[in-house]
Amino acid sequence: MCGIVGYTGTKDAFPILIKGLQRLEYRGYDSAGVALANDGLQLYKCKGKVVDLQNHIGNGTTHGNSGIGHTRWATHGEPNDVNAHPHFSMGGNIILIHNGIIENYDSVKKELVARGYIFKSDTDTEVLVNLIEEIQKSENCKLSEAVRKALNEVHGAYAIVVMSEDEPGVIVAARKSSPLVIGIGEDGDFFLASDATPIVEYTKNVVYLEDGEIAEIVPGQELKLFTEKKQKVTPYIQELELHLEELEKGGYDHFMLKEIYEQPRSVHDSMRGRLSVKRGLVHLGGMGDYEKKMLAADRIIFIACGTSWHAGLVGEYLIEDLARIPVEVEYASEFRYRNPIITERDVVIAISQSGETADTLAALELATRKGATILGICNVVGSSIARITDGGSYTHAGPEIGVASTKAFTSQVTVLSLLALMLGQAKGTIERSRFHRTLVDLSVIPEKIEAALQTDAIVKKIAAEFKDARNFLYLGRGYCFPLALEGALKLKEISYIHAEGYPAAEMKHGPIALIDEEMPVVVIATKGPSYEKVVSNIQEVKARKGVVIAVVSEGDEQVKEIADYTIEIPETEEMFAPLVASVPLQLLSYHIAVMRECNVDQPRNLAKSVTVE
Ligand code: AGP
Ligand code: GLU
Repeated sequence: MCGIVGYTGTKDAFPILIKGLQRLEYRGYDSAGVALANDGLQLYKCKGKVVDLQNHIGNGTTHGNSGIGHTRWATHGEPNDVNAHPHFSMGGNIILIHNGIIENYDSVKKELVARGYIFKSDTDTEVLVNLIEEIQKSENCKLSEAVRKALNEVHGAYAIVVMSEDEPGVIVAARKSSPLVIGIGEDGDFFLASDATPIVEYTKNVVYLEDGEIAEIVPGQELKLFTEKKQKVTPYIQELELHLEELEKGGYDHFMLKEIYEQPRSVHDSMRGRLSVKRGLVHLGGMGDYEKKMLAADRIIFIACGTSWHAGLVGEYLIEDLARIPVEVEYASEFRYRNPIITERDVVIAISQSGETADTLAALELATRKGATILGICNVVGSSIARITDGGSYTHAGPEIGVASTKAFTSQVTVLSLLALMLGQAKGTIERSRFHRTLVDLSVIPEKIEAALQTDAIVKKIAAEFKDARNFLYLGRGYCFPLALEGALKLKEISYIHAEGYPAAEMKHGPIALIDEEMPVVVIATKGPSYEKVVSNIQEVKARKGVVIAVVSEGDEQVKEIADYTIEIPETEEMFAPLVASVPLQLLSYHIAVMRECNVDQPRNLAKSVTVE
């Protein structure tokens, strides 16, 4: 995983590359680097973030009308200056950036070493650039041909961009299982990036490279695409729907906070055109064609990672409850390595914000091989998962930049709610009156999220009390159990406080031993069928001197009496409680992380989309 940018044309490349890297920094920030073509190849790279790279360059010359840039999330070799990309070939006239992993790098490296190659870095990437050099030397071919031949000798996942001193202005790019987008400018110039965000301000015309495709990009000429087997491909030019203002912080201190506050709108956007209370209708276009298939399926299997997996758990509860179709929720990373039973009668649905998560993609490939129908619920339009699935629905949450997922989660749960209602209505498993009531309840969720945002000041005060805690427990039951997991994940990933989520009733089977006066316990205790039971669980925590922070429904009296802190949110149908109760949990982790001076939008060791297995 990492971010790649590139530019070639008549403009000054450097500012375009730096701005692009800043946009892509969410994908990795172990090191950063740029190479510029200007009478030879000029390389700057260092450990750290894009700002460190800018300081490192200082007043160095940055001229050049073409160049490539990288922000790294290390897989092979520690994050240091030498392992930072771009990497020169040993001879020094080819330079390359890579996103992904070259799996057979070791054997290729041994062969190259036997031929006299000396390696400077510990990366798998350097193997590829030296292999290209070796092929070009022995076959005396163009850069694009050497790249093509080299790619036939390696396996793994990659997106690469390559330049050569001998072909000034030319960038060769290729992809397999890692995304790469090419923007076609108006003046014969070209932009390259791992996603469209660095490109959108220059052009709306883009080509998403497909797996196994190689591009030879020459300014002022038509874009040339061909496959690893040398077949010509006609570029399919698409128009971007992204808007520049969606990529800015818009006055907020952090993207995460902006994204938390965007939820009334993003959840509304997830429903827009898909739900009509007046007409008593729910329709998910891209899923509708597969409705019959889902209704007749033996099982619906959700595959996802992290937060998206938590959304899948809510989806399981929703679909089993409303549509009575058996559902399983699988960690994508486990699914493919445990020889699961999948048949043509199963429908496998990938849930992914980025649509690029390598584990999820690999699990989908397995499901496809086994003959299942594969669908996707993705946020990023045109992403790999969106493109390889038979059908699916976009969440329409808009770009999510903060590494900690917030609005993407609530939008995923919204789409899953719509799916469950659509299936329940079609199957007749939900009575008309309940269907109508539920539709109304779902349609007013954006206003309830808006009201839940009013808890910000109270949550901030609570955050100040607990910012130095070493551990946290999160408890919930029913629909709010997945939310307990999600709340705990949010806290650990951005504040580095250890946190665990549990079904509230499971606490007595082990975790209760952890409770003492040092242990804050966040309990989601909103009104619903298991409310009384949760109240008992709170009593159990209090009896052991635990400190209880409870998220309750407006007007709650009972929990208020026993909990140490309460956060009131609007009451809602139990199945939609995760949509509203998410807000104070997101805010709690946000404020604690800010108070601990953590990097909220770019937490350590993480990256937004995990494009390696
Ligand atoms: C969420 O806060 C995390 N950063 C992470 O768990 C994320 O949800 C996971 O990596 C899955 O990503 P995806 O939705 O883009 O597939
Ligand atoms: N495997 C390469 C490295 O560790 C690329 C990692 C990335 O995708 O950033 O440098």
